[in-house]
Amino acid sequence: MNNTLELLHNHTSVRSYTNQPLTEEQRDAIFKAANQTSSFSLLQAVSIIRITDPDLRKKVMQLCVNQPYIEEAAEFWIFCSDFNRNHQIAPDVDIEYIEFLLIGSLDAGLMAQNALTAAESMGLGGVFIGGVKANINELSELLNLPKYVIPLVGLCIGIPSGDKPALKPRLPQSMVLLENQYQPLDKEQLAVYDEAMLKYYESRPVKAPFTVKKVKGWSEHIQDHLQRSILPEMLEYLNKQGYANK
Ligand SMILES: Cc1cc2nc3c(=O)[nH]c(=O)nc-3n(C[C@H](O)[C@H](O)[C@H](O)COP(=O)(O)O)c2cc1C
Repeated sequence: MNNTLELLHNHTSVRSYTNQPLTEEQRDAIFKAANQTSSFSLLQAVSIIRITDPDLRKKVMQLCVNQPYIEEAAEFWIFCSDFNRNHQIAPDVDIEYIEFLLIGSLDAGLMAQNALTAAESMGLGGVFIGGVKANINELSELLNLPKYVIPLVGLCIGIPSGDKPALKPRLPQSMVLLENQYQPLDKEQLAVYDEAMLKYYESRPVKAPFTVKKVKGWSEHIQDHLQRSILPEMLEYLNKQGYANK
């Protein structure tokens, strides 16, 4: 197996870091990897906001539902879909169509993943923060985001402290890689995966800030998290920022 595959096959989110900063070389290498990511029609509709000010980082951490690693990480970058730049270049094009939400979201996600992969390739660790959407109006104000810019995901990067977390099991290939046509949900395979996740959670040590050990199958996890993922203010927020009005 080559080094790239080895790295990708062994990904785990890292939420615990030493207090050492990254070197400028490491940071530049991560940025360069992210910035070279494929981009829909080369629109390059992404901006990354790097939060370096400690007071601002604390406020951002609080808005992202108090996830402590946001403050502890050497770097915290927020990947935003940014059509403000494109709009200034081509002001006559109506960019309030939902298609631009899809384009910006996908481009930002791809860039963010390349940043994390680049960091991991240098022995660093990181975790994405979807929590940037938890208080999206307040966060957008705090970061001075103009119209046509929306924060989609944060990325903590740091030097891992402690043991590498165990690999989190994923759905089996038969349920994810479907051949030629969509396939109905395979409940037997799902039960096998639920059992694997149960075992994973049973063996996982409880770490701060969590005090209760989460032990459940994946189906139960979906039951809990689908509902929790709904942010009722999102549509209004997107419309205000000039996204998805059409
Ligand atoms: C878009 C996105 C948002 C995420 N948001 C958070 C978050 O806010 N907090 C967190 O601790 N982990 C977050 N994660 C990490 C996931 O929980 C993690 O990737 C998943 O549980 C699988 O674990 P693994 O990455 O260790 O394999 C996020 C991941 C993605 C892709």
